[in-house]
Amino acid sequence: MRENYFLHKLHSLTGIIPVGFYMVQHLTLNSFSLAGPSKFNGVIAFFTAIPGHILWLLEIVMIWIPLAFHAVYGIAIVARNDDNYSHKAYKFRENRYYRLQRWSGVVAFLFLCAHVTTTTVQAKARGHVVIEYDAWHQLLTSNGYIVFMLYAVGVTACAYHLAYGIWNFCIRWGITISEKSQEATGKFAAGAFVVLSVLGISALFGFINPIFASKEAEVQVQRETPTHDLPVNDRT
Ligand code: HEM
Ligand code: HEM
Repeated sequence: MRENYFLHKLHSLTGIIPVGFYMVQHLTLNSFSLAGPSKFNGVIAFFTAIPGHILWLLEIVMIWIPLAFHAVYGIAIVARNDDNYSHKAYKFRENRYYRLQRWSGVVAFLFLCAHVTTTTVQAKARGHVVIEYDAWHQLLTSNGYIVFMLYAVGVTACAYHLAYGIWNFCIRWGITISEKSQEATGKFAAGAFVVLSVLGISALFGFINPIFASKEAEVQVQRETPTHDLPVNDRT
């Protein structure tokens, strides 16, 4: 596929707005898992309280279309394997970061295909199913924590992809022209990578926290135990 100036600019823009913004808010809200099941489920309840047709519209316009375009055009860029631009523009180390961003795009693609199919797509296909804390706990702790590790890799790849993307975006759009300003955004991007990775991975740890898991198990037992099996004082 030949390079198209407009499409490349649009690809670059969609990476920041709205997809980059979506990812930051998504990881922030997911990190409510650190505060326990009721807080995380509260976030889910907030979204499910939005009227269905408005939520659909918001998701399609703000997430699905921009993300699908960014992903498909991104894969086309990777497949073209045209790195002249990077050789000309960057020094050796920066060129490595640049290539790594393309590869992180491929990992993000695989991760998001699996992630979105097993969350939103499946929930919508089965009707109005919501994915609450318990379901995440089960998913992330199953099969010897393999899903947990795959998620950690996916989240880290997305964090790198966005953080480096911010740096490159500022150059592409002429926001940072001098070497000094590029150095400053480089530091910002490095910080963003650390913050986003920590945010995403700590959200994952929130779902496997044994304190919440055992409390949840207690509630389950109480729900499942018929009241006549409990000592008289415990009957409610
Ligand atoms: C779904 C899989 C994805 C693929 C295949 C993909 C692919 C790519 C590629 C190949 C580039 C480099 C473009 C170039 O060399 O000029 C890129 C840039 C970028 N991507 Fe992605 N991406 C994906 C997901 C994401 C996500 C989830 C985000 C945000 C969280 C994102 C944000 C960005 C940003 C900010 C840029 C930099 C734009 C620029 O260079 O001006 N991408 N993406
Ligand atoms: C800490 C790891 C993550 C967890 C626990 C998580 C959780 C969820 C959940 C519960 C949903 C279902 C809909 C919702 O409630 O929002 C969802 C959907 C989604 N997630 Fe994630 N996510 C994680 C990481 C990511 C990352 C790194 C991205 C990259 C941008 C991402 C992108 C999406 C997208 C695009 C959807 C579908 C949006 C929709 O509902 O229409 N997720 N995720």
